[in-house]
Amino acid sequence: MKINTFLMPNFEIEEDFFNNSICVYIDVLRASTTICSAIQNGAKEIIPVADVEQAMRIYSGLDREIRLIGGEKNMEKPANFDLGNSPNDYAKDVVEGKTIIFSTTNGTNLFQYGHSSQHRIISAFVNFGSSLSYIKSTIENHHNIDSINFLCAGNNTLFSYEDTLCAGNYISDLAKSIETELSDASHAAKVLYEFHKIELFNFIRLCDHSNRMTKMGLKSDIDLCLQYDAFPIVPVIEGISIKKSRI
Ligand code: MLT
Repeated sequence: MKINTFLMPNFEIEEDFFNNSICVYIDVLRASTTICSAIQNGAKEIIPVADVEQAMRIYSGLDREIRLIGGEKNMEKPANFDLGNSPNDYAKDVVEGKTIIFSTTNGTNLFQYGHSSQHRIISAFVNFGSSLSYIKSTIENHHNIDSINFLCAGNNTLFSYEDTLCAGNYISDLAKSIETELSDASHAAKVLYEFHKIELFNFIRLCDHSNRMTKMGLKSDIDLCLQYDAFPIVPVIEGISIKKSRI
């Protein structure tokens, strides 16, 4: 199984590169984790949108009873949004049964890649075990799958250590049970994860985006994002929306 990793977004590649593949979208701090929180807590669907203006337009067209709009710009809740990008905002009594229009700086931008892949999932540490099982069972049940692509959100087009380590964690575990052919970036992510794994979450707390979040008083979000299997579900992208996987 070929494993590719895209360490930063805004790469140029032909869409058919993603044919017959699984795409795994990772934005540990915080978009992937927040999506997992919303889906775990019963949101009907999440519609990811690349920018705030477009998000407001789609939201305005929806029935008041079922709609919410959430996300961030410059790490803060935009004016007129119901919810920010904190996984804690997406509690059961707030999101259950709702359609959430969701826009963030890096995370939602990432979903523009990989449309031609049949299996597109949102992953982080909070749904590590479920995502790993999903990947393994998809490979077992769909013999046409010949690659897995890990797409890291990065930070404002720059490298993000926590997303790379999370991808490396998945790759390291997959390499124990399936035969893999790693791209250079996949190999680098795996080696970095294996180097840091003993102190993984303490190390991530020292990285750039954790520092920015700590300065903004978002330490409790970091704590929630750095937990294995807090939200044991798999959000899948189906058409324009993200829903809970049925497997
Ligand atoms: C993003 O998608 O840009 C991030 O999740 C930023 C954040 O921490 O809000």
